[in-house]
Amino acid sequence: MVKLFLKKYFIGLLIAYFIVSEISGAHDQKTLIFPVNNFSVRTTTVKTSDGQKKITYRSYLHIPYVINPVDEDFQSLNVYVPVKVNDKKIDASNAPILFDIEAGGFLSVNNAKSQKPNDRANLALSAGYVVVSPGCRGRDNRFPDGKYYGKAPAAIVDLKAAVRYVRYNKGIIPGNTEWIVSVGCSAGGALSAILGTSGNNELFDNYLKEIGSADASDNIFAAACYSPITDLDHADMAYEWMFGEIPLRSGLVDQSLSKQLKEAYVGYQFSLKLRGKGDFGIIDAYNYQDYLLKYYLIPSANKYLKDLPDSIQKEYLKKNSWIVWQDNQVNYTFKDYVTHIGRMKGIPAFDDFNMRQPEPILFGNDTTDARHFTDFSVQYDSGNKYAKVDEQLVTIINMMNALYFIQHENSNIVYHWWLRNGTSDNHTSQTVMINLTTKLQNLNNDVNIWLFWDGGHCADYDPEGFIEWIGIITGYK
Ligand code: DHB
Repeated sequence: MVKLFLKKYFIGLLIAYFIVSEISGAHDQKTLIFPVNNFSVRTTTVKTSDGQKKITYRSYLHIPYVINPVDEDFQSLNVYVPVKVNDKKIDASNAPILFDIEAGGFLSVNNAKSQKPNDRANLALSAGYVVVSPGCRGRDNRFPDGKYYGKAPAAIVDLKAAVRYVRYNKGIIPGNTEWIVSVGCSAGGALSAILGTSGNNELFDNYLKEIGSADASDNIFAAACYSPITDLDHADMAYEWMFGEIPLRSGLVDQSLSKQLKEAYVGYQFSLKLRGKGDFGIIDAYNYQDYLLKYYLIPSANKYLKDLPDSIQKEYLKKNSWIVWQDNQVNYTFKDYVTHIGRMKGIPAFDDFNMRQPEPILFGNDTTDARHFTDFSVQYDSGNKYAKVDEQLVTIINMMNALYFIQHENSNIVYHWWLRNGTSDNHTSQTVMINLTTKLQNLNNDVNIWLFWDGGHCADYDPEGFIEWIGIITGYK
C-alpha cells in the first residue's frame, strides 16, 4: 500500500517536472552541449620559423551555438583541435582557445561555407592551441521578404553567444574555457575589442536571451585587435584631424566641413582626458601629432630601417627623401608622413551623406538599410542644426564601441591586449587605436602594441609573435 502510494507520487512528480521544464525551456540548454564525439580528422601543413609543420587536427564543423537562431548558417561555429604536430601527440584539453573572428566590413560570416582553419588558426594549432571559428550575422543579412536581420548589434551579440557556448561547455569542449583569446582585423578587430571591454555587460542581456544563448558568462581572457575600426561615432572627426588637408585624387575634400569636424574633434579628444606616457601630460588635438611621432611612428620607422641591410636601407632612404636619417635615427614631420600615406575616404569618412559606407549600413534596422549615426550627418541631412541621433540608436552605437565600455567602467575589461596596425593604414585615423591603447594603459592594463612600418590595413608582419604572446600571458607551454 505504502509502496504503491510512493510509486504514484514519484510518477506524478516526474510528469510535473517534464511539464515545468517544457514551459520554462530549461531542458533546452541540453541541446547546447558540444558534440565532442562528432568530428573528422584532417591534416594540413603550416610554415613556421621552425620549418614546415604537419598538423593533424579534429575538425568540428557547423555547430549551432544558440537555441533560437535567426539563421543557423551564421549562428554556428567550427572548432579545430590539434592532436598531432609532425609526429608529436598533442593534448589540447587545457590549451588556450583562439577565438578567431573573421568578420570584415561589418559583413556577416557564413559558417556553413567555412570549412577549414585560416593561416593564423593553423599557426595556433601548430602551437597546440584550440581554435574556435564562429559565424555571425552582419549588415548584409536579409530575409527573402526584404527584412534585414544582421544590423548592429547582431554581430557582437552573436559573438558573445558563441563565447557563452564555449564556456557553457567547460570540461566537454577541448581547451581551457578561461583562456579564450579573441582576434580579428578591421571590423573583426573592432568586434574583438568590444568582446574585450564589454564582458557580461547587461546592455546585451535581452538580445542574448532572445536568441537563446547558453547560460554562461561572456567575458574573455585576452583580446587582439589588428587595425580596429572602432569609436565609429567619433571616427569622422578623427579622420579630418589626420587627413583633412590631404587631397584625394579628385582634390581636397570640402574644407569648411572638414574644419567643422576637426573643431569637434578638439573637444572630443580633450574630453577623454588621456594621459600620455612619461611626463607627456594630457594628450589633446594639438599635441597628438607629437605624441604619435615620439612614441609610435618614429620608433616603428627606426626599427624598420635598422633591420634593413645597408644597401637596401640606402635605396629606401633615397626613394623616401622626406625621411631624414642621421646618427642611426630617423626624423620626419607628421605632415610629410600623412602626405606619404595619403587620404583614402571622402567626407564624412564613415557617416557619409549618401550612406554608402559600411557604417551607416551597419546601423540600419529591420526595415531600413542605412541610417546616419552622428549628429553631424543627421543635422546635415535634415537641415536642422538641433537634430540629434535617435536615443535608441545611440544605445546601439554605444554597444558597437569598445571605448564606450572602458569610459563607463564595465566591470569585465580584459587585462591583456595585443594591438597592431600598419603605419600606412588610412582606413581610419591612427588616433583611434592609440586612444584605445592609452585608455587601457591609463587603467593599468597590459597592452602589447606595435605599428608595422609601411604596413597597410590589417598588416601582420609578426603572426608568430602573436601566437607566442598567447603562450606567455597564459603561461601555457
Ligand atoms: C573595414 C574597413 C573599413 O574601411 C571600414 O570602414 C569598416 C570595415 C574592414 O576592412 O573590415
